[in-house]
Amino acid sequence: MPTYDPEPFRIKVVEPIKLISPDKRRTAIANAGYNVFTLRAEDIFIDLLTDSGTGAMSHHQWAALMEGDESYAGARSYFELKKAVEDIFGFKHFVPTHQGRAAENIIAAVLVKHGNHIPSNMHFDTTDANIRARGGRPVNLVIEEAFDPANPHPFKGNMDIEKLQAFIEQTGPQNIPMGMITITNNAGGGQPVSMENIKAVATLYHSYGIPFFIDAARYAENAYFIKLREPGYANHTPIEIAREMFSCADGFCMSAKKDAIVNIGGLLALNDDVTFQRISNELILREGFVSYGGLAGRDLSAMAVGLYEGLDEDYLAYRLNQTAYLAGLIREQGIGLIEPPGGHAIYVDAGSLLPHIPHAEFPGQVLAVEMYLEGGIRTCEIGSVMFAHPHPDTGEIIYPKLELVRLAIPRRVYTQSHLSYVAETLGKIAQRAKKLKGYRFTYAPELLRHFTARFEPI
Ligand code: F0G
Repeated sequence: MPTYDPEPFRIKVVEPIKLISPDKRRTAIANAGYNVFTLRAEDIFIDLLTDSGTGAMSHHQWAALMEGDESYAGARSYFELKKAVEDIFGFKHFVPTHQGRAAENIIAAVLVKHGNHIPSNMHFDTTDANIRARGGRPVNLVIEEAFDPANPHPFKGNMDIEKLQAFIEQTGPQNIPMGMITITNNAGGGQPVSMENIKAVATLYHSYGIPFFIDAARYAENAYFIKLREPGYANHTPIEIAREMFSCADGFCMSAKKDAIVNIGGLLALNDDVTFQRISNELILREGFVSYGGLAGRDLSAMAVGLYEGLDEDYLAYRLNQTAYLAGLIREQGIGLIEPPGGHAIYVDAGSLLPHIPHAEFPGQVLAVEMYLEGGIRTCEIGSVMFAHPHPDTGEIIYPKLELVRLAIPRRVYTQSHLSYVAETLGKIAQRAKKLKGYRFTYAPELLRHFTARFEPI
């Protein structure tokens, strides 16, 4: 039996949830075109679609919301956030944005030109799409271990340094306006990147004069993995580790909806004065004035508090233990998952659970639909629905190496018994896996198709 550490909080407000009948679930998912994104949230019992913006704020954050300053420019809330951002991340300039993809859009608008290449360990889907939308090509150069779900490598989010060097040589640094790394690597299983790797990546980019930007959505979880797994960091606090990680970079973009435990918000920060000027202009055009960036003042205040709560050691220990607990229950039933479990989510290997269903019939989608039908649980496909795309030159469909279903755990929301129920539901599906059949599209847009696609059973 995996262990479960008691939550380092108690519950002051509750939100009722309800498991609707199997018949109603069948109707709901059919009406949703077999796409869990199109379900009504009210028809869901346990929602593991994402850990983004779904966390429970603390009473300190709710108090900060009430005290938010809604002045258009120069609000007190902005200065609270500025102080926290400078303290933790240490960059010369920053702007708030309404969420992570807004920061990505702005940095892509300012830096990416048609035909440019942007390397990373793995880009998440919105980063990938924002680069493509500007005519750029996102390139994923994570270490090979990342593609072997059973490999227990402690830092499976690491960049392959040799591949990166060869790529820069081949492409030419003049065609790479920025280099990135995603911490933790969400698209590859929520896997952390080691400090050693972050430093090596920074040194390599800088040796070619390429600015280095971190996608920092889950930087605090990454910092805690470094503390737990990387020699020399056991006695460092998460905030010290965070400061060391960001001191290697020229800037970062971040969805604050994850490790800053707010329901909405993002950040974009950097050192370069000229680029910041262009970012400010772009921000004013698309998001809002530089001191609020598309958010209410109260959101900035809640983010300033949440940034520190997300770095709290007791919280991070509980957080990563909760994920390891769910992984343990799933592993005990012989169901494959990405090992070791990541920070914010479990990634079930739908490809190995449903080997009779080919990429083109979406094994991950099949499992996501079954999780809803069996237990009222919403999860998210991270496989061919999300990532298969035509090759830009040949048009041939390129399928991702892994067909995964992500069980993302919202922060401070679900308890031990909720997670046990999730594992039991998965076990019931595994018992009848051989009988399950695939899906085909009835509608699929070109960009970010997983959000709005519709399917029918084959
Ligand atoms: N980068 C990473 C690594 C992410 O995981 C996300 C969002 C973003 C950027 C974009 O941030 O949603 O605030 O615009 N991930 C969410 C998820 C959607 O469910 O993993 P956003």
